[in-house]
Amino acid sequence: MSGVRIAPSLLSADFASLRDELRDIEQGGADLVHLDVMDGHFVPNITFGPALVAAARKATSLKLDCHLMVSEPQRYIERFVEAGADMISIHIETEPHLERALSLIRSGGALAGVAINPGTSADLLADALDFCDFILVMSVNPGFGGQKFIRPAVEKIRRIAGMLENRGLRTPIEVDGGIDPATVRDVVLAGATILVAGSAIFGQQDRVEAIRTLRLAATSTVA
Ligand code: DX5
Ligand code: ZN
Repeated sequence: MSGVRIAPSLLSADFASLRDELRDIEQGGADLVHLDVMDGHFVPNITFGPALVAAARKATSLKLDCHLMVSEPQRYIERFVEAGADMISIHIETEPHLERALSLIRSGGALAGVAINPGTSADLLADALDFCDFILVMSVNPGFGGQKFIRPAVEKIRRIAGMLENRGLRTPIEVDGGIDPATVRDVVLAGATILVAGSAIFGQQDRVEAIRTLRLAATSTVA
């Protein structure tokens, strides 16, 4: 198995100190920055839009992984690409024209991801696997940081990993929600390689140490 990538979610960061937060996770060895875009419609919370992504772009050289939890995501894709997103995921529950939306992301030069909620069957991903660059499996109901890990996500990851393998695809699986040193083992063993963590990193005093602890817990499972 190749190495895992750690993607701290800015949702739990101190927005007034964004530059410092980004510097800390970059120095701490984060691989990506995860940015949670919420519209108060698809999910019951509102966060930020392309302006904050553009600000983050100026403050870090880490790749920006934008998770769009918005209705009609296709309307906003170009703006996130222009803001500097390197990866953009959209929810399968939001987009009837998934192939078109994913193509739009790719034509902007970003990697296109499909996100899937805990209550949505992995079966629905079957036809999307050929058009996406990564899959984002939600292990909480999207909307808030600091929620409890939903355990059936582990089986869903395993199942999606099997679907990919059957097709000879090596598409990475990202997991998001309730990831901490105690839950990371099972998701990595099931096949996740991109690990989003909000409160497990920004909820800790020492972000560098938090990343190190998470990576250790993740990689000690695959030695
Ligand atoms: C939740 C977001 C997550 C969130 C994860 O809707 O998509 O990225 O920041 O936070 P934790 O790691 O605290 O569950
Ligand atoms: Zn997220």
